[in-house]
Amino acid sequence: MGLLRGDIGLELGRRVADAVRAALDLEITPAEALIRPSSRPGADYQCNAAMGLGKRLRRDPREIGESIVAALDADDLVETPDVAGPGFVNLTLRTRWLAGHMRGLLADARLGIPRTDEPRRIAIDYSSPNVAKEMHVGHLRSSIIGDAIVRMLRFVGHEVIPHNHLGDWGTPFGMLIEHLVDEGFGAEHTIGDLNGFYTEARKKFDADPDFADRSRRRVVLLQGGDEPTLALWRDLVDESTRHFEKVYRLLGIGLTSTDLYGESFYNPYLSDTVDELERKGLTRISDGALCVFPAGFTNRDGDPLPLIMRKSDGGYGYASTDLATVRYWTGERAVTDLLYVVGTPQSQHFQMVFTASRDAGWLTAEHHAEHIGFGSILGADGKTIRSRAGGTIKLAELLTEAVDRAAAIVAERSELDEAERAEVARKVGIGAVKYADLSSDREKDYVFAWDKMLAMDGNTAVYLQYANTRILSILRKAEAAPDAAVVETGVTLTEPAERDLALRLTRFPAAVQSAIDTYSPHKLSTYLYETASSLTSFYEKCPVLKAEPDVRASRLALITVTSKVLTLGLDLLGIEAPTRL
Ligand code: ARG
Repeated sequence: MGLLRGDIGLELGRRVADAVRAALDLEITPAEALIRPSSRPGADYQCNAAMGLGKRLRRDPREIGESIVAALDADDLVETPDVAGPGFVNLTLRTRWLAGHMRGLLADARLGIPRTDEPRRIAIDYSSPNVAKEMHVGHLRSSIIGDAIVRMLRFVGHEVIPHNHLGDWGTPFGMLIEHLVDEGFGAEHTIGDLNGFYTEARKKFDADPDFADRSRRRVVLLQGGDEPTLALWRDLVDESTRHFEKVYRLLGIGLTSTDLYGESFYNPYLSDTVDELERKGLTRISDGALCVFPAGFTNRDGDPLPLIMRKSDGGYGYASTDLATVRYWTGERAVTDLLYVVGTPQSQHFQMVFTASRDAGWLTAEHHAEHIGFGSILGADGKTIRSRAGGTIKLAELLTEAVDRAAAIVAERSELDEAERAEVARKVGIGAVKYADLSSDREKDYVFAWDKMLAMDGNTAVYLQYANTRILSILRKAEAAPDAAVVETGVTLTEPAERDLALRLTRFPAAVQSAIDTYSPHKLSTYLYETASSLTSFYEKCPVLKAEPDVRASRLALITVTSKVLTLGLDLLGIEAPTRL
């Protein structure tokens, strides 16, 4: 049998489904076969199907378990199964199969992860900061989580189109442009200045009615496409995107200028979008504004909640832009999926946008739209993280601090020269920040703590990076590519710690799949951490370099696969794995 790609649990599910058909003349899906990794000693997987089938057929589940076992054709994969308790079927992979599978993985660049049979075209909105403002930690989370999701989806073969929904349009630009007209650009205007620039403009707007008036007129000029106004607006946008792109480069986020689909991009589509809603009878005037009231959304008093489509002054806003966005991507770009990686506070907004889009026919049963929300990053005091001065944290400064702190750790390691150390510090520091985010359940808040995220043991990036460099260092000392030796002798798994590690490596495809299914990168990071832990237990029991030649070759092969899994797993999370540390 060739290399099995995909989850071995699912393959066992298929075999059980076949057995159920043969023994009971019933159709069940592999998923309904309920194969779970087992925590019982001696069993790798457990099949719980007999319980449900027993109920359905009004028969003793244990008897059903036994008839499944009798009809099961999986001798190539598992030992003879036993039925435990009320009807659980315990499945234990043949060690010989596991060993052969390790040999297959050694030669498989995908490490057992299959490509999807049903590729989708997925538009994903992530990062999406606002022009003339610094990116804040919410945008950091969106960027990191979104990028990991993009990597995983692409790896399994989906077409993924990122779009960065920049806040680059709307009323604040009136005051920003007027302020720019008053002050002009300095010789080396940076976004740091622009941040203060925003605050100054806001102050003037609130204090000076004359300025406020000019600003409002400027918005009208901007929306009317006045060329000199647009040129000033473009200056502001360009200056901001240069800053965002710097942060993306520092972070290793794939977003580029071609992925920019800011709010302004949808400007030409707004009136058609809103007209269509009107034509379809989905709008209603409320307080002078044209609104849609998607069913099922009410405020605390039970009054229906609006999405404002056109304000009484004729202006469009955030909600109409998001409806135009759905209409554009499903209509003009024919995407099947729309994903939005945006903080949880906007959850209701997106549910309303999805409902209205379904009513308008822009989302159909063929489409999948999902808001991928996330919690906040908290400081040590349990409140939303702030800078020492109490203001919002500047992302570029935060990332520089991460690299500096990592440099202090790396400096203790003398084998590296200065350039290598700087490179490793970057991978460790940036990796720490990204991993701290990706390893916690995205829907929860998490506490930002330098010491914890840079700890050498525990569920951290540097722990995984170190586990990998330790393998690479052994392989360098062995001075042999394991592939050649193993092709001759094969992999043998005699020690329980070897077998445990091999079993863990076999579960990589399932871990990636479950991270994709729920858009939860932490499911992959948890798996990688468990893998590194299995590796540590393996080292305790199983010497590699000092072992007998055959065992040595086999163990070199096993740790090589482990290194490949760690490296690819980290890469799918957007984290670089140094070769030395
Ligand atoms: N710019 C917005 C913010 O900073 C996020 C945009 C999210 N995407 C969207 N299609 N609404 O809150």
